Amino acid sequence: MKTAEILNKEKLTREDLLYLMNTEDPKDLNLIYEKAYEIKEKEVGKKVFYRGLIEFSNNCIKDCNYCGIRRSSGNVERFFMDKKDILESARWIYENNYGSLVLQSGERQDEEFILFVEDVIKEIKELSGGKLGITLSLGEQNRETYKRWFDAGAHRYLLRVETSNKELYKKMHPQDGKHNFENRIICLKELRNIGFQVGTGVMIGLPGQSTEDLVEDLLFYEKLDVDMIGMGPYIISDETPMGEEYRDKVMSKEKRVSLGLKMIALSRIYLKDINIAATTALQGLDPLGREKGLKAGANVLMPITTKDEYRAKYQLYNDKPCIDDTADQCKGCLAGRVKSVGDEIAYGEWGDSPHFFKRK
Ligand code: 5AD
Repeated sequence: MKTAEILNKEKLTREDLLYLMNTEDPKDLNLIYEKAYEIKEKEVGKKVFYRGLIEFSNNCIKDCNYCGIRRSSGNVERFFMDKKDILESARWIYENNYGSLVLQSGERQDEEFILFVEDVIKEIKELSGGKLGITLSLGEQNRETYKRWFDAGAHRYLLRVETSNKELYKKMHPQDGKHNFENRIICLKELRNIGFQVGTGVMIGLPGQSTEDLVEDLLFYEKLDVDMIGMGPYIISDETPMGEEYRDKVMSKEKRVSLGLKMIALSRIYLKDINIAATTALQGLDPLGREKGLKAGANVLMPITTKDEYRAKYQLYNDKPCIDDTADQCKGCLAGRVKSVGDEIAYGEWGDSPHFFKRK
């Protein structure tokens, strides 16, 4: 009863969000998902936008305690795709009418890398006659770098804050001066000022993370006025400090999936007209995770289009799905999944977040 009452409100309070975040009754959960889907239909439609994901390098200067490709992991075969291979993936994305792509890699801040990315952006624009939208997910950079990449033709940027709880952020990252919560916020603000559509997100079900923290994450999204959200459950990555410490202590898969879906639904209900991705990590814990994400209000999918020989090397966490598939197989598989939900794939569109165009 109380759930239905809250869902009827125009604007939810922190207390309302916390009540819903703590709800576990299946009937109430269904009400939340239904409401989120209704708002999705109204605000962004039943269209699902694809972003072909090119994970072009696992070299990283960061050492995040949860991540499989952290700098000090000795067990990773490092790779850096050359321009030809990246452009080949971009061409595949263009020819398959995905509309836009995401360039993602481990973080690097040297001039060689910055220039490489700048060139790749320009060449992707050229090969698609300006038609492919380009999102970047390349970590923390300075304003000048962001501006160079924006001027080269990228127009969206994803930078997860990982958690809006500063203390938790500290525990998840080495205190070596390179992993700084405040700097991430500065980056998100710079990106916005430059004119990027800005996306952020968190991991869900982190050791030491409470449902209060997750509600604060939602309020953080609102405060930063973000256009896009990409978030997913935390998944153990072996041979990382957190993987070793929490292997047997992390909350159950079911619980993490359920919280992940609730975060998607409550983001949709609370923030309404933003883009929300149903991420691969959701599917990593539940074979139907991405479909459930769409049902809970997500409207973006990021099919992996990284070339086959590199996929298995971009392992942020254990048992990452889709690493044995080709881009063609992913395309067919996802099309079936989208249809099963009753959504429709919006081929060939950039699918910008409507929220961005209402920016004051
Ligand atoms: N579990 C889930 N997500 C992870 N990421 C990194 N490591 C993990 C993990 N063990 C996510 C982070 C990062 C994104 C690229 O991948 O949120 O921002």
